Order: sequence, then structure tokens, then C-alpha cells
Amino acid sequence: MNLSIMSLLALTFLVLPLAGQSAAKAGNAESGKKIYAAVGCYQCHGLQGQGGSAAPVGSYGPRLAPVKLPVVAIRAYLRHPSGNMPPYTAKVLSDAQIDDIFAFLKTIPAAPPVKDIPLLNP
Ligand code: HEC
Repeated sequence: MNLSIMSLLALTFLVLPLAGQSAAKAGNAESGKKIYAAVGCYQCHGLQGQGGSAAPVGSYGPRLAPVKLPVVAIRAYLRHPSGNMPPYTAKVLSDAQIDDIFAFLKTIPAAPPVKDIPLLNP
């Protein structure tokens, strides 16, 4: 009896850390906003993730918000970008920090439709 409880406990301690690794943790949007600015995402993608033209010559930092990609795809792209974007290794940006950036991007609402902006409808 005691033995089986012990082995159950042991199993729990073995399995829990693994489960923690695969579970997507909710990031912190407030710190994500600071990280987004500190590591320079804003320089190419704009402060609100609206996209920008400061990216390397001949390219353009695409719009990031509202977020369409899942966090795993964003993480994968940051680690191994395929175009003009610089790679962000785990030394520069941890997985937890990427989760925070994702949480920040999720707080940015979609832009209103053109028909709802008076200045664009003279
Ligand atoms: C030097 C400019 C630059 C910086 C800095 C930069 N990006 Fe990018 N990013 C790009 C460009 C350009 C692309 C378009 C694809 C390419 O050329 O790699 C891109 C693509 C992406 C994509 C894929 C978008 C899609 O719809 O496929 C994501 C996600 C992304 N960037 C997130 C980030 C985040 C988060 C940061 C900060 C940690 C960051 N980028 C920093 C230039 C930049």
C-alpha cells in the first residue's frame, strides 16, 4: 500500500515537469510590450505591430497584430527566420519572453474598417 503511494508520487514528480514543458503558459502582456520595444521588434513591425518600412532595404516588416499565427509558429519563426528578419536565439530571447510578446500582440485590437474612419470618407 505504502509502496504504491510512493511510486505514484514518484511518477507524479517525473511526469509533472514534462507536462509543464509542453503546456502553453500564458504570457504577461505588460512585460511583453517592454520586451517588444527592448529587442527591437518595433523597428521593423511598428510599435503596435502595424507593420513598417524600416526593415532592411527592399523588405518590409509585415503586420503582426491582430495576431493570426499561433505562438508556436511565432517562436519557430523567431528562431529560424527565412527571409530578411534577423534570428532571435534563446540567448537573446527566451521562450517565456516570446510568450510575453505574444500576449502583448494579442491585446492589440484590429484596426477599424475604412468606412468607419470619417477622415477617409470625405
Ligand atoms: C530588422 C527588421 C526586423 C526585426 C528587428 C524583427 N522583424 Fe519580424 N520580420 C521582418 C521581416 C522583413 C519579415 C518578413 C519575412 C522575412 O523577410 O523574414 C518578418 C516576419 C516576422 C514574422 C512572420 C510574420 C508572418 O505573417 O509570416 C513574425 C511572427 C515576426 N516577424 C515577429 C517578430 C518579432 C516578435 C520580433 C522581435 C522579437 C521581430 N519580428 C523583429 C523584419 C524584422
